[in-house]
Amino acid sequence: MKTSIAIYPGSFDPVTNGHLDLIERGRKMFDHLIVAVLRNAGKDPLFTVLERVEMLREVLKQWPEVEVDVFDGLLVDYARKRHAGVILRGIRAVSDYEYELQMALMNRKLEPRLETVFMLPGEPYSYLSASLVREIARFGGPLDGFVPAAVGERLRAKVTKTRSGAGIGAGGRPDAGPTRRKRATH
Ligand code: PNS
Repeated sequence: MKTSIAIYPGSFDPVTNGHLDLIERGRKMFDHLIVAVLRNAGKDPLFTVLERVEMLREVLKQWPEVEVDVFDGLLVDYARKRHAGVILRGIRAVSDYEYELQMALMNRKLEPRLETVFMLPGEPYSYLSASLVREIARFGGPLDGFVPAAVGERLRAKVTKTRSGAGIGAGGRPDAGPTRRKRATH
């Protein structure tokens, strides 16, 4: 029998219920699922990599077949290192498709043995993104249903801390809203 190792890569800044929905679907489909957090110094994240990993491990602890890891550099190199055959990505709406298509085709060019598998999150999560969640938190809006309770608490604490520390607005940045990025994260 073939064993399948899949990688679900992303920024996870922070993990949302949309990510969890996709992880739950992925864990049923693959023997081993690696949730891989990109250590990307260029993105100016709200949470450190360590914090993002801690939150993921906390909310995924009931699923031992799901591993949380960190990667640097090219995803295809990491996939080779982990002997993974599949990259799992979510597509919420048509607007995600173009970017995802480009990334999947480039990854295939770089490593033809690696397949990208797209899954659709549940409909309640089709408009949910980590960037919107960060923005809601920054302005004190409700987070119920968007992120796990423990993540919501950490978000509130984080935006309060950065707001009091930075002096130029929550997050310490003039604008880190959803339009800043090419594709909002799940
Ligand atoms: O959650 P995100 O930010 O949409 O995830 C994007 C991610 C991490 C999957 C993508 O940026 C990535 O794979 N980066 C690693 C560098 C890389 O391999 N780039 C070339 C992709 S074609």
